[in-house]
Amino acid sequence: MDEKKVMLSGIQPSGDLHLGNYLGAIKNWAARAEEFECYYFMADMHTITVRQNPADLRRRTLEQLAQYIACGLDPEKNTLFIQSHVPAHAELGWVLNCYTMFGELSRMTQFKDKSAKHKDNINGGLFTYPALMAADILLYQPDFVPVGEDQKQHCELTRDVAQRFNHIYGDVFKIPEPYIPKAGARVMGLTTPDTKMSKSIPEGCVFLMEKPEDIQRKFKRAITDSDTERCVRFDPANKPGVANLMNIYSAVTGKTMEEIEAEFDGQGYGKFKPAVGDAVIECLRPIREEATRILQDKAYLESVYKAGAEKASYVANKTLRKVYKKIGFVAR
Ligand code: TYM
Repeated sequence: MDEKKVMLSGIQPSGDLHLGNYLGAIKNWAARAEEFECYYFMADMHTITVRQNPADLRRRTLEQLAQYIACGLDPEKNTLFIQSHVPAHAELGWVLNCYTMFGELSRMTQFKDKSAKHKDNINGGLFTYPALMAADILLYQPDFVPVGEDQKQHCELTRDVAQRFNHIYGDVFKIPEPYIPKAGARVMGLTTPDTKMSKSIPEGCVFLMEKPEDIQRKFKRAITDSDTERCVRFDPANKPGVANLMNIYSAVTGKTMEEIEAEFDGQGYGKFKPAVGDAVIECLRPIREEATRILQDKAYLESVYKAGAEKASYVANKTLRKVYKKIGFVAR
């Protein structure tokens, strides 16, 4: 029998999960477990590149796990774990730091954005973040890394570092492909259609656990366009707000842009915006209800992340031992 292909991805528990995380990443992870061997983690080590409140970080990490499960990631079929529970990430992260170039790291958009946002804390971890991310990925020898568009650059750097390493030491790492969805790869803020949806602009960000009335209010206030045409037409260059809402509607309902244009033909934005809100509410409702239920059961969550760390460590340590041997470290 052929071996299953491997998928891996992670999200930082630096804020509550939002619609961008769901449509850009998690939605693409769920329901793949039959076809792929899947690893998904809470990237807690990455979050401390920006100062975190310790109690909030702990709470959000567990909430994120409950939300992963509620989004359809069955822990019996997917390996779900907390990054800091698998020390191999930090260990390979250090090694890969030494194979990642200053110039490469300087070109990373996320570093430029975050160092502009957190001028008082431009620490070494923020700069070398992509080497840790490369380690997260390469430890599991994945074929695919399902992420949103904004992580493509980090995935490409991961491939470059892996190729560089393989070139020196032989075939140690599989070269992974980023796996980016067609609809939802870049969900924009509802109030800022020119920047990606993110927790830093909460009025334009829809959180997975948010109450339906709050979600609906955000969609009703979504920026559309100042043009006089006021029709639902997919034109990202001239109508970015409408295009974003259409993108969200398409990702949630599976409808094509032509079908959406036909559905709202002749009916201005007044009908369209609440319809998108309703579709999102119905998509998120079962997730919110299930996550709330799972969160009550702390013993269950603990059993999931412990089993996940054990399985992940086994796989990760195999790669780490190979790397240590290749670079000339004495075996333990
Ligand atoms: P993070 O935590 O910022 O985001 C998690 C995932 O959500 C996607 N995403 C979006 N997709 C569409 N529209 C948006 N507005 C939007 N905002 C976020 C991201 O593309 C990502 O897939 N460095 C990573 C976390 C990470 C990781 C990894 C990912 C650490 N190690 C290894 C994959 C593999 C990050 O900061 O994502």
